[in-house]
Formats: sequence, C-alpha cells, structure tokens
Amino acid sequence: MNDRLELLAAYPFERLARLKEGIAPPASLPHIAMSIGEPKHAPPEFVVDTLRAALGRLDSYPATAGLPETRAACAAWLGRRFGLGQRVNAESMVLPVNGTREALFSFVQAVVSQRTNPAPVVAMPNPFYQIYEGAALLAGAQPLFLDTTVDNRYQPDLDSVPADTWKRCEVLFLCSPGNPTGSVLSLDYLRYALTLAEKYDFVIASDECYAELYRDDRAPPPSLLQAALANGHDRFQRCVVFHSLSKRSSVPGLRSGFVAGDPAIIKPYLLYRTYHGCAMAIPTQLASIAAWNDDAHAAANRALYREKYARVLPVLQPVLDVVEPDGAFYLWPDVGRDDETFTRDLFAAQNLTILPGSYLARDTRTGNPGRQRVRISLVASVEECVSAAQRIRTFLEKS
Ligand SMILES: Cc1ncc(COP(=O)(O)O)c(C=O)c1O
Repeated sequence: MNDRLELLAAYPFERLARLKEGIAPPASLPHIAMSIGEPKHAPPEFVVDTLRAALGRLDSYPATAGLPETRAACAAWLGRRFGLGQRVNAESMVLPVNGTREALFSFVQAVVSQRTNPAPVVAMPNPFYQIYEGAALLAGAQPLFLDTTVDNRYQPDLDSVPADTWKRCEVLFLCSPGNPTGSVLSLDYLRYALTLAEKYDFVIASDECYAELYRDDRAPPPSLLQAALANGHDRFQRCVVFHSLSKRSSVPGLRSGFVAGDPAIIKPYLLYRTYHGCAMAIPTQLASIAAWNDDAHAAANRALYREKYARVLPVLQPVLDVVEPDGAFYLWPDVGRDDETFTRDLFAAQNLTILPGSYLARDTRTGNPGRQRVRISLVASVEECVSAAQRIRTFLEKS
C-alpha cells in the first residue's frame, strides 16, 4: 500500500461516531443532526425533473471536459454572480467536476511537483475542510496550517509565513465563505494573497462552494477571479476557483460542481482527470445546466438560511456567544469548555448531534484553534433548527 495513507487522520465523522458510542440519548426526543454540512432543503423540482428526463442519455461515455453547454452555463453563472461579464472562456477555463470534494483532492495531486520542489508545502486555513490536508499529504506535500481565530477575524494571517516557507509553497487553499467560521475574505485580502502567489510562484485554490449563501445582499462574497482581474491577471494566472451545486441548490447527492481559472492550469488538470476517469454523467450535466442557469431558487435557498439565523439566534444568544456569520450555514461558538465533552453531553441529554471544533483543526504552536468550539450546521428545516436551539438552551441552562 501507499505508505502515505498512514498519514491520513480519521475523518471527523468517524471520530464523532466513536465519541457517541455507548450513549443512549432520551428516546422521547427525535434525533436532530446538526453535525454534517449536508443541506436538507428540498432540491429544486426543475432540477430533479431535468435529471429524470435525461436518463435516456446513459448510452454513451461522457467527455471529461464536459459538454460545451455545461461549461458555458458555469461560465455564464460566474459572469453574472461576480460581474465578470464574458471574461471566463468556457472552452479553456472551466471543467465540470463530480462535486468539489473530488476536485479539491485531485487538483493537488495534479499540481504538486516534487521534481522542481523537493519539500513542497500546501498552505491552508486551520480549521479547514478535511480534504485539503489529505490531498496535501497524499501528494507528498507538507500541510502548513494557518490558524483562523477570533483575533484575526477568522482570516489566515498570510504575513505570519516566513519567505522561505512561501518559496516552498505550491498551493495555498483559501475558503470563503469559510467552513466552519463563515468568515468572508475581502477583495483586498484576495488581491494581497495573489501578490504573494506571484512573488513566490504558487497557485491559489479558492474554495468558494458557499459563495451563494451570505448574509448581506449588498455585499455578496467576492471571488478570487475578481481579485485576479483587479490585479491585472487577465487570464486568471495562478488562480483556480471551486464551485458547487451542493449548497447553492441543495443537491449534495447530485455530485456536481466545477473548477474555473487559469487555462495554463486547467489544461494539464484536464489531462490528469482524463486518466483519473472522472467524467460527469450526461444526465447530471443536463440537470446542472438547469441549476446554474437559474438564480431564483438560489435566492430562495439563501432566504431560508437567513430565516434560520433570525429564528435561532434570539433563542441561543442569552446562553451562548453566537453571531450570524457573513456566509455559509454554520454557527461556530466558543462553548467555554472541552468541546468533545460538550458534544457528548449534549447528545446524551438532548439527542442532538453537533461536531467538536477540535476535530476540524490541527494543533499548531498555539494549540488547536477549534478547541472549546463546536460547529452547529443549520441544515435541517427551520422548525427543526429552532427546536434544536431550544434544546441547546435547555441543556446550557441546566449545566
Ligand atoms: C468548504 C467545503 N468545500 C467543499 C465541500 C465539498 O462539497 P461538494 O463536494 O459537495 O461540492 C464542502 C462540503 O461540505 C465544504 O464544506
């Protein structure tokens, strides 16, 4: 076996299952899952209908590059959402992917080079989406964890990295809106990150899968692609963004997203993907086109998350330090005590599952930035989220 596999940590949900083992929560309370970031809103009917109507298209192998219409729909959405107009060339700058998870992983395998860089580094926020770390380790790179804490407003401190480390960096992962913090990186931040990428010659992989879930209509989260244009990178040099329908359209089971950016990176990445064998099924592509072409359902989805924050926060705020984040669908409170114990005791008392923050982060010099925090996903229905908030409040008032 590949000896790098031994470097992979147990996935957070495996650890969570072990943490809950042997506990019998009150059977009188129905279980509420707030641990996993899996949207539970009903998928748009027109997307499901399109998928169903396209099932006859299973008779041929799809191309790895996707249908031209699929790439065009993704490019058009980028143009509308981020004011990029026609700047994204669907032919050379976009690739469909089977959910961003596989793309975030395979991208690093394709980009990291040990031939030119014997000790490659992949930098990422800490806490982070677990795939970034696993991708770095399996590519033979050293993960560099950049703590995101309340002190840096949950934004990786790029100036904390010594020049010698930046010189070894091959990929910098950014995530905006961030999982689990919900923090949004500003255009200025992204522009600054790009000046470093240029200076030290690395690629920025910007995970923007929560880009459609945000608090303020006057300030939708910017994309790295906008920063690239603002910095004069007219062909998005060194930039690749990752977008997904899982959160935007509540179709995590469709496995549909895309990557877009620098054609000099997209082209060899397409070659990699051709060998890897991860073309998107044509019915999935047709359903995805329908979803990317429609913005109304995404706005309705966003409104539903806002309603949850509006209903949940007044219940929790008297007992917990929670605020509405700029984006995504999580709460990331400091619970003032051990996060594993908190999670286990809450489950035991209220039949409600959340995720210990330390499972989403790694120890650095200053400790684990997820310690004493928990991630609460507001993915269930509005009613269930409100009822969960009431249970958390009862639990805290009693403990
Ligand atoms: C930050 C982040 N990136 C990527 C993903 C993967 O999403 P998908 O593979 O469904 O596109 C997730 C899913 O939870 C996520 O939280």
